[in-house]
Amino acid sequence: MIKAKDVSHSYNKDIALKNINLEIKKGEFISIVGKSGSGKSTLLSILSTLLKPISGEVFFENINSKNIKDIDSFRQKNIGFIFQFHYLINYLNIKENIQIANEKATLQEIEKLLDLLEIKSIINKYPNEISGGQRQRAAIARALINKPKIIFADEPTGNLDSKNSKNIFKIFKKLSKKGTTIIVATHDLNLASKTDKTYEVNDGQL
Ligand SMILES: Nc1ncnc2c1ncn2[C@@H]1O[C@H](COP(=O)(O)OP(=O)(O)OP(=O)(O)O)[C@@H](O)[C@H]1O
Ligand SMILES: [Mg+2]
Repeated sequence: MIKAKDVSHSYNKDIALKNINLEIKKGEFISIVGKSGSGKSTLLSILSTLLKPISGEVFFENINSKNIKDIDSFRQKNIGFIFQFHYLINYLNIKENIQIANEKATLQEIEKLLDLLEIKSIINKYPNEISGGQRQRAAIARALINKPKIIFADEPTGNLDSKNSKNIFKIFKKLSKKGTTIIVATHDLNLASKTDKTYEVNDGQL
């Protein structure tokens, strides 16, 4: 499904990733762990085509990402993102924030997803009216509403207590069993142990 071949990256002169080779199968639930600054977010950004590596290639179902003509629409159609910081839009309520990702989503679909994430009661609230953990779950709902084939999540449970974190991982597990490919960067080794495979990034090396 996703393949990285000899991927290296540096910001200015600092090397962030060295020669990463990685293959992720359809429906796999992968975790990426490693110390702060080790390169996890950089790797997710490159695998998800948001960042171009200085060398190496990323393939989606054997198609080189460099050869994908309209990369923005490819991303929109296939990839769901959950970022380290949630990036909800402050002047839109939670329902509207989710509709931004999929304007065709029905109220029923949105409510079902919010219910799954245990935040149905905040559907009409604005981001500054809810807690950090609720915001994070709203951002997860926004990433899932399109039913993407691939989900990239960077510290999706960073603001959540252990009960909610476990729930998010359970939801990911269920999605992966239905064929969604999921790649999560996390500091939480206990949660990482619940995934199919864990990679450790150490000083830019896998
Ligand atoms: N935009 C940037 N400009 C310059 N250097 C950067 C930038 N983003 C990351 N880096 C550097 O690249 C290296 C890897 O950073 P990255 O954000 O990938 O680490 P991380 O493993 O995600 O860390 P954390 O666990 O703190 O989120 C670090 O040395 C970092 O300082
Ligand atoms: Mg990071």
